[in-house]
Amino acid sequence: MERPRSRISGTGRSLPERVLTNHELESMVDTTDEWITTRTGIRERHIAREDECLSKFAAEAGRQALEMAGVKPEDLDLIILATVTGDQPIPATSCFVQDMLGAKKAAAFDMQAGCSGFIYALGVADQFIGTGTYSKVLVVGCEVLSKFLDWKDRATCVLFGDGAGAVLLSAEHGSRGLLSTSLHADGSMAEFITLPGGGSKIPVSHGMIDQNLHTIKMKGNETFKIAVRSIESACREAISKAGLTPADVRWFVPHQANTRIINAVADRLGWPPEEIYLNIDRIGNTSAASIPIALDEMVRAGQISENDILLFAAFGAGLTWGSALVRW
Ligand code: ACO
Repeated sequence: MERPRSRISGTGRSLPERVLTNHELESMVDTTDEWITTRTGIRERHIAREDECLSKFAAEAGRQALEMAGVKPEDLDLIILATVTGDQPIPATSCFVQDMLGAKKAAAFDMQAGCSGFIYALGVADQFIGTGTYSKVLVVGCEVLSKFLDWKDRATCVLFGDGAGAVLLSAEHGSRGLLSTSLHADGSMAEFITLPGGGSKIPVSHGMIDQNLHTIKMKGNETFKIAVRSIESACREAISKAGLTPADVRWFVPHQANTRIINAVADRLGWPPEEIYLNIDRIGNTSAASIPIALDEMVRAGQISENDILLFAAFGAGLTWGSALVRW
């Protein structure tokens, strides 16, 4: 009997109402709209209010994905929440989401793979579906990075935004669904993107906060240099595992970290601008949320046709990177 495939049968997204523009950032740190736009492609991003936390956005995106798929919360088997910015360290935020959705029988866990979190979560979900263990899995990518930023560090605070995206995976037989994934990590470059404090190595203390170890640090330029070739090789790997070629890809839906990285990868693989989905100008880098937010925008705008080949690819803290190929 042929292995069941994971088909994306619903999508959803949720973004905070508050929009922070580059012009507003000019009055907060020593930066300019011109620098941010030309170096990254970002013009504005959504930022959570003080009283908003991650589960609110994750649950709303998940609710929309269930609704689009016509799946009742009580029929869900599993919720995987990809995030590095959960509501609190214990318990897993996916458990709050499970309760908010009323997904009573669903198992739930969080997973961390930085900006590659959504791709990793798709790969894990697909194992449960492929073995026949589960037939309805909700994968959510969600981040509230704004609460972990140093708003005085111009090298990081201009890059990130908040939001959630979700997909509902249904077990189906046939040619549509997830075709292949490529997942990678290299912990020897862990220090490129870190939030050093608050764990068992440097527990929460006044001293840790005084040293500003509770905010995200990034070696942007070093990360940039590795990102392009890692994403390119992960893309090629997923495409060849599925027995396809780069020319078969109709839509490249990349993690929205930097338009220069995205264009360089697309260039190397021969994809023209009209085959690349970009929303970085409006959304910024929302880490694990960025691909499912982009996908939901495309789906709701009617941009994807049945049997289109979509390629998702991401790169982030860990370092981690990967890609996932889907026949729509
Ligand atoms: N405004 C103005 N100037 C700035 C700003 C800013 N916001 N930020 C940095 N600069 C300055 C720097 O101080 C530096 O000045 P100097 O030359 O006088 O020292 C200059 O601009 C160039 O800095 P670089 O860091 O070399 O700039 P670069 O062109 O590399 O762009 C960026 C920086 C946008 C961060 C880029 O390196 C990048 O996108 N890196 C990859 C990020 C990424 O993909 N991360 C993975 C995902 S994140 C995650 O997993 C959570």
